[in-house]
Amino acid sequence: MKLTASGIKKDFPRAGKTSNFFTAVQPLDIELSSGRLTVVSGRSGSGKSTLLNMLAGLLTPSAGSVCLDGTDIYALSDGALSRLRNASLGLIPQGNTALNSLSVLENTLLPSVLYSKCAPPYETAASLLGQLGLGSVKDEKPSALSGGELRRMSVARALLTRPGVILADEPTAGLDDENTLLVLSLLRRYADDGACVLIVTHEDEAGRFADEQLTMNGGMLSR
Ligand SMILES: Nc1ncnc2c1ncn2[C@@H]1O[C@H](COP(=O)(O)OP(=O)(O)OP(=O)(O)O)[C@@H](O)[C@H]1O
Ligand SMILES: [Mg+2]
Repeated sequence: MKLTASGIKKDFPRAGKTSNFFTAVQPLDIELSSGRLTVVSGRSGSGKSTLLNMLAGLLTPSAGSVCLDGTDIYALSDGALSRLRNASLGLIPQGNTALNSLSVLENTLLPSVLYSKCAPPYETAASLLGQLGLGSVKDEKPSALSGGELRRMSVARALLTRPGVILADEPTAGLDDENTLLVLSLLRRYADDGACVLIVTHEDEAGRFADEQLTMNGGMLSR
């Protein structure tokens, strides 16, 4: 599998000024390929999440294209893009996106049941939560979890379907050293098993797990 972005950029309108734009991501190319773990690091506000969200099919670029195995994802209908994202992309978004009406286990299972007619993979989900140190809280509601536990739940939710592409936005934010290592090693293992993995982070730890390290600075990506 290959995710290729060519010339993507993102302009946001400046608040209160209709004719003025702020360019959060300057035109850039990036390619994620099977078996490789890419890390993009950069300071807060440098454009990392904007870049990741464009790659994830969540934010339409102001210019350029994002292709998954040759399919221009932003040329698809909303329904087709949703299905493609569900089938191929595992997203660890920045911040907490848990649904509080569901348990930790049910949150983890959510992407796997959305379009599937198969029985939910309860055992695989429970085992993955166990690997991430969340076995004892799987029946809790997310509101009962700590920030670091919620982060690890997002990791489990993104990995459960074994997606071909894994996009991780600050996957180790708020984690202690031991859990940081746990999460980064798990993402490395998924890359070794053939996934395309991207981690964007302002922390330094991910670098030593990377095949390729890039830096984002003021919306510009450099090698
Ligand atoms: N929807 C939006 N409208 C206007 N400006 C935005 C929007 N989203 C992001 N920005 C701006 O774009 C820039 C890049 O934001 P982005 O969230 O990509 O940074 P980041 O590198 O992920 O930062 P952090 O490390 O804090 O998560 C910031 O200056 C931000 O204020
Ligand atoms: Mg961010």
